[in-house]
Amino acid sequence: MEKPTFYITTPIYYPSGNMHIGHTYTTVAADAMTRFKKMTGYDAYFLTGTDEHGQKIERKAQAAGKEPQLFVDEIVAATKELWKLMNIEYDDFIRTTDPRHVTAVQKIFRKFYEQGDIYKSQYEGQYCAECEAFWTPTQLKDGCCPDCGRPTELTREESYFFRMSKYQDWMIDYIQSHPDFIQPPSRANEMLNNFLRPGLQDLCVSRTSFKWGVPVDFDPKHVVYVWIDALSNYITALGYMSQDDSLMQKYWPADVHLVGKEIVRFHTIYWPIMLHALGLPLPKQVFGHGWLLFGNDKMSKSKGNVVYPGPIVERYGCDALRYYLMREMPFGADGNYTNEALLTRMNADLANDLGNLVSRTVAMIEKYCAGAVPAPGQPTGHEEALVARFEALPALVEKYMNELQFSLALAEIWKLVGDANRYIDLTQPWVLGRSEEGRGKLNTVLYHLAECVRAIAVHIGPTMPQTPQRIYQQLGLTDPALMTWQSVQKFGGLQPGILVKKGAPLFPRIDIPKELQSLADEAQAKAQEKTSAQEKAQPQAPAAEPDKAPEAQADPLITFEDFAKVKLVTAKVVACEKVEKTDKLLKETLELKNGERRTVVSGIAKYYTPEEMVGKTVVLVSNLAPRKMRGIVSEGMLLCASDEAGNLKLLTVEDCQAGGWEIG
Ligand code: ME8
Ligand code: MG
Repeated sequence: MEKPTFYITTPIYYPSGNMHIGHTYTTVAADAMTRFKKMTGYDAYFLTGTDEHGQKIERKAQAAGKEPQLFVDEIVAATKELWKLMNIEYDDFIRTTDPRHVTAVQKIFRKFYEQGDIYKSQYEGQYCAECEAFWTPTQLKDGCCPDCGRPTELTREESYFFRMSKYQDWMIDYIQSHPDFIQPPSRANEMLNNFLRPGLQDLCVSRTSFKWGVPVDFDPKHVVYVWIDALSNYITALGYMSQDDSLMQKYWPADVHLVGKEIVRFHTIYWPIMLHALGLPLPKQVFGHGWLLFGNDKMSKSKGNVVYPGPIVERYGCDALRYYLMREMPFGADGNYTNEALLTRMNADLANDLGNLVSRTVAMIEKYCAGAVPAPGQPTGHEEALVARFEALPALVEKYMNELQFSLALAEIWKLVGDANRYIDLTQPWVLGRSEEGRGKLNTVLYHLAECVRAIAVHIGPTMPQTPQRIYQQLGLTDPALMTWQSVQKFGGLQPGILVKKGAPLFPRIDIPKELQSLADEAQAKAQEKTSAQEKAQPQAPAAEPDKAPEAQADPLITFEDFAKVKLVTAKVVACEKVEKTDKLLKETLELKNGERRTVVSGIAKYYTPEEMVGKTVVLVSNLAPRKMRGIVSEGMLLCASDEAGNLKLLTVEDCQAGGWEIG
């Protein structure tokens, strides 16, 4: 019998900078879902990739002084590395610069034109290059992009337009008659009320004011609008309009497009209309998930509040991060990322609940049964409830996974973890182990625990792909048939007699306050290095850049009063030493006016030795709020200049041998 298919996609990400934990969130979700579908008998296909054309990328490349293709190549390579690190197993990675994609987009565009969906005209209006979105005057919020809040730019150019208006009623009808199409349902109402019912405008679908895009083959001064280019990826990757469209035949329509809530509009209005115009069926579902926030703000590089997964994985492992991302917030809602929440989950759910269950189970089998999983003996009276939980679990997990409620699916699995731990407390195997009469019951308990541990390992696999093997190793389980979804539908698959083997704890228990302090110290040291790099090097950077990115233009000016708030003074370094257990920090003792002394910690140990520091007259931000780093209170910050190549120089005042002179 042929397996049912399941086609799932993430958005294709802009390779404008390194992927952060927000992109990781969507990608992990898609990966977990794909693994789950494969495990439960589907022929699942998972597509991700990169959205490489458009004004935004062209400008970023320009700002980096690179050719766009080279610029994106480097980021795409880093992205693929990151997905490897995160244990992402995609079936295809499409790049919109792939020739297979470019050719198909040209054919799609031509088809629209030939059948009268596209006409040539003049565009005049506001454009947000960050979101690559056109806005009408009434859609702007305080004159800025309603999505990202940046200033928009007046754009006036010859363009092709897509007759979206023609499809407005059809689209409204479709959304209303397909309640599952847009999830969660609140996002469907938003689309209807904010965009469709007020009247759908024809969409500008080509640009002439820049070059970095797919050329319109019959009118090459135009490049295809990046969203038309990008959305097409979901079918060009399957070979649509190519010589071999067998994947298209097999997997289209998609079962689900996972997208962040800010791009639901493109996926539930423009994309369906494009597909309809091509005579193709629509994806079964577009799921608009929430944002990972950082301090209540959407993470973004320009806001400087970005969290990258690399260092987290390095510290705590990929499975811990994947678990946290999928468990912490309902898929659909926004949630704050905090290190504290991550560490709390790691300690409570992973180290305590799961880790303890596995280590206690294995330790007791070693202690009481010479390491061999026993055959169950007499019942203790607590098995029925446990087995009921065990056998109810697969259906519940499947239900929640199909709703993309990862968090609820994991919560169900952890109910079995909790019940198994409680079963130990209820049956008290250490008491049973004391007497001959207790022996039969003890065997029952240990068998039930081992069997639950096996089922839990199977269930967590899609979210935490590395952990099951580590559990199987401790259980001594080698038979692949006992690691399948099929094998955990009914209780009792585990063969008695296999030899368990205690291993290292699955997840380390973390001293949270200490760990948070050490994370804060490192962040501070890094920020200090960066501050010196960016803020101090910037005044010298050439200001003349004709085609500046809006982000750069939006760098706000400050008033003289703002500037006057920063108190800069000269300070003499009278003593200096390395801060222990880090190779980044120096602790300086500074002398200001009238013999006043200050202690300052600076992230400059890689650039200056303590000996070199003593005697220098440096520039101190003296009214910076004190901050503790590695247990030392730092009372201010030294100014440095640095460049992108990693050079760093302290600002010193050569002719001034005294502390406490005011600067400004
Ligand atoms: O929009 N929290 O690309 P993009 C959660 N190229 N998810 C986040 C996030 C955050 N803080 N930040 C980003 C584009 N994302 C287009 C898509 S598709 C045909 C073209 C996720 O690089 C979120 O899923 O801006 C969002 O949909 C995606 O990254 C956007 O990535
Ligand atoms: Mg975006």
